[in-house]
Amino acid sequence: MTVGCVAFAVVNNDDLSFLELLPSGAAVDGEGELVIGGCRLRDVAQRYGTPTYLIDESNLRSTVSGFRDALNAAWGNGRVHFASKAFPSTAIYRLMAEEGVGVDVAGGGELQMALAAGVDPETILVHGNAKTDAELAMALGAGVGLIVIDNFDDIDRIERLTERRQSVLVRVIPDVRPDTHDAMATGQRGSKFGLSMPDAEEALKRIRRSPRLHLDGVHTHIGSQITDLAPFAEAVAAISALGDFDTYDLGGGLGARYTYLDNPPTPQAWIGCLTDAARRHLPATSRILVEPGRSMVARSGVTLYRVVTVKHGEPTFVAVDGGMGDNLDVSLYGQRFEATVANRLGWGKPVELVGRHCESGDRLVAAAPLVDPVVGDVVVVAATGAYCFTMANNYNGALKPPVVFARDGATRLVVRRETYDDLLARDETG
Ligand SMILES: Cc1ncc(COP(=O)(O)O)c(C=O)c1O
Repeated sequence: MTVGCVAFAVVNNDDLSFLELLPSGAAVDGEGELVIGGCRLRDVAQRYGTPTYLIDESNLRSTVSGFRDALNAAWGNGRVHFASKAFPSTAIYRLMAEEGVGVDVAGGGELQMALAAGVDPETILVHGNAKTDAELAMALGAGVGLIVIDNFDDIDRIERLTERRQSVLVRVIPDVRPDTHDAMATGQRGSKFGLSMPDAEEALKRIRRSPRLHLDGVHTHIGSQITDLAPFAEAVAAISALGDFDTYDLGGGLGARYTYLDNPPTPQAWIGCLTDAARRHLPATSRILVEPGRSMVARSGVTLYRVVTVKHGEPTFVAVDGGMGDNLDVSLYGQRFEATVANRLGWGKPVELVGRHCESGDRLVAAAPLVDPVVGDVVVVAATGAYCFTMANNYNGALKPPVVFARDGATRLVVRRETYDDLLARDETG
């Protein structure tokens, strides 16, 4: 039996269960139309075309401030950094800055976007397991607050390139393997990210001796889409063995809710777990940083598609005008999503909701219980706010979708749809 059928069998057979996966405030209006941020989804699809990423701006702001307030309440000396790889666009960077959180960037491109959005460099933290000279020079030139040392070459490079004393953290592998997809686990021995405990000790010694680096503390991040809190506490205990520091960055990784069956911890519970562990293992005066990505943005986003064709049979295939060009999570991680027709919520006969790309693996939702899908319907996939925009691509020459914010019944375009001219713009035609 497929995962979809399991979900179908055990959830409350309530026509409106889909709303639980959407931003809070999502509703069905008197005409049966799904509404997010006060906007009817079929109207948004009509106005901006499909596929389109739609973000509920109020829900995103309240999620972000929820993380911020939870950390402030649990640990006076702390800061939330949005792991911007989860949604790297200037509108999102700007929103994060407005909500009083910092950002982490991995690579020159994310740094450029954060700076273009007006993020205070002091609140930018730079990651990467392969930072180039050019990227480090850019980060140093911008005056970023913290650079996370991933390897000994980072130390050599910063010492060579910096003109002022740069504050750094050392990324440590705590030897903790959370229960998540292999490609998302980063805390286990042998991870490509960070340094083993003995190597970290060596790096810490070198940095303490360096006149050009200032050692702020240590960093750890054990992976992504983690729904069991215990490994987070284990990681805090593990890194405490390295000694006392001013700053501990405890990473991100909290899981998001994608399906009817998922039940991830709340941000408050996650931060409570981290700070309880910090109280047990870390100095009371230290500064705690966290870097959530997925859990901050996933639920605020949906993707709107239009049905292009319905092929009846066993199974029935409902093909839409997007797919793995705008959502790689399914093929990369086997992530399950849920979907509905925008003006017919409920439980229909399960169909295979597939994309338009030339791969059998281009399936958005297996056994999706869509109600009577027909050509032209707007289909909504829930919880696509994290990493889908990030990994959008031009497979089969697909144009990357726009991003639209909805709030209080109004929409605004924050990233336009790609055009065929964009597709051709880099090609040398001579
Ligand atoms: C160093 C680091 N911090 C934070 C994150 C954010 O993780 P998540 O989106 O699961 O919260 C990642 C993503 O994998 C990461 O590599």
